[in-house]
Amino acid sequence: MQIAHPQNRVLVTGGAGFIGSHLTDVLATAGCHVTVLDNLVNGRRENLTDALATGRVTLVVGDITDAATCERAVAGQDVIFHLACLGVRASLHDPFSNHQVNALGSLNLLAAARQANIRRFVYISTSEVYGKALTFPLTETATTWPTTVYGGSKLAGEHYAAAYHQCYGLPVIRIRPFNNYGPRAHFEGDSGEVIPRFMLRALAGQAPVVFGDGQHTRDFLYVRDCAEAMVRIAETDGLVGDLVNLGYGEETPIGELGRLVLAATGRTDLQVQHEADRPGDVPRLWVDPAKLRNATGWRPRTSLAEGLRITLDYYRRIYAKNPGCLAQMTARNWEKA
Ligand SMILES: NC(=O)c1ccc[n+]([C@@H]2O[C@H](COP(=O)([O-])OP(=O)(O)OC[C@H]3O[C@@H](n4cnc5c(N)ncnc54)[C@H](O)[C@@H]3O)[C@@H](O)[C@H]2O)c1
Repeated sequence: MQIAHPQNRVLVTGGAGFIGSHLTDVLATAGCHVTVLDNLVNGRRENLTDALATGRVTLVVGDITDAATCERAVAGQDVIFHLACLGVRASLHDPFSNHQVNALGSLNLLAAARQANIRRFVYISTSEVYGKALTFPLTETATTWPTTVYGGSKLAGEHYAAAYHQCYGLPVIRIRPFNNYGPRAHFEGDSGEVIPRFMLRALAGQAPVVFGDGQHTRDFLYVRDCAEAMVRIAETDGLVGDLVNLGYGEETPIGELGRLVLAATGRTDLQVQHEADRPGDVPRLWVDPAKLRNATGWRPRTSLAEGLRITLDYYRRIYAKNPGCLAQMTARNWEKA
């Protein structure tokens, strides 16, 4: 099925967020009519400035935990990309909200999609479902051992999506993205991600703070590559009913990432600082991209070095506009504010 087509009406839940807004950009540029459903709890209207300017994007401010809102948003759509969720650090201080949005909210959307005869439902899961998996690189058959309510609730949504395919024939594809970075990544509050936090601290002359010994690894994918891959995956008929990992295919230890950011910002006078581990932190995430490559032919275009350069340009502008933004970054941002 061709997703990137002017005839298609596409719903992106969580489309005002980090990845969702880049996906919306890709879809709008391809000519699709996109409806973004987002309650703006972590998303921002400004993330959609370019997309809204195309005239092909509509933002609906609404909550996926409300079934009637989901029904209204889904009616008349051809394709759904479901990204709306609450994140891993939020799950540590508010597990019930995480469950409500990530598990129940997903079920609401699946039920609405079934009623609306949706042609493709793309469930965006996460590599966090692998948790303490022991075999690397991670293939789609690796055991899922989530360590957090976030990982557990995202996995529940994944299983509900698979069940809607099995029981009702809903054309579902499940994607497990690994860590994303790039412009619009969160630095603030409990959504704050490691790369923007490292960058903004380095720009302010403060050392990156690593929780743990810095040996835990992540597989970083530039967000625009991720968004393009999501569309490619959604178009791959052979993946309906199936699941696929989405990542770059290289693991980077977080301590090493801190040093890369210090080098990129020219602050090699600073040293990475270490603090106690974050609870439930997954030790290792490293994707085996073989299934993705074989099924879609997709390859990432942006190396980590190039992606960090583009991302740093963006955060330099953020920092120049608002040097006080560091106040929005709490150190142990998984604890209740
Ligand atoms: N960022 C990553 O590195 C990463 C890695 C793997 C998977 N993912 C997955 O990608 C998706 C997007 O993640 P992101 O990093 O862009 O997060 P994000 O927080 O920027 O985006 C999520 C969006 O969902 C919205 N939202 C939250 N609760 C909602 C609700 N009840 N109703 C409607 N909207 C709601 C938020 O306002 C936000 O705009 C998520 O499903 C996440 O699990 C992200």
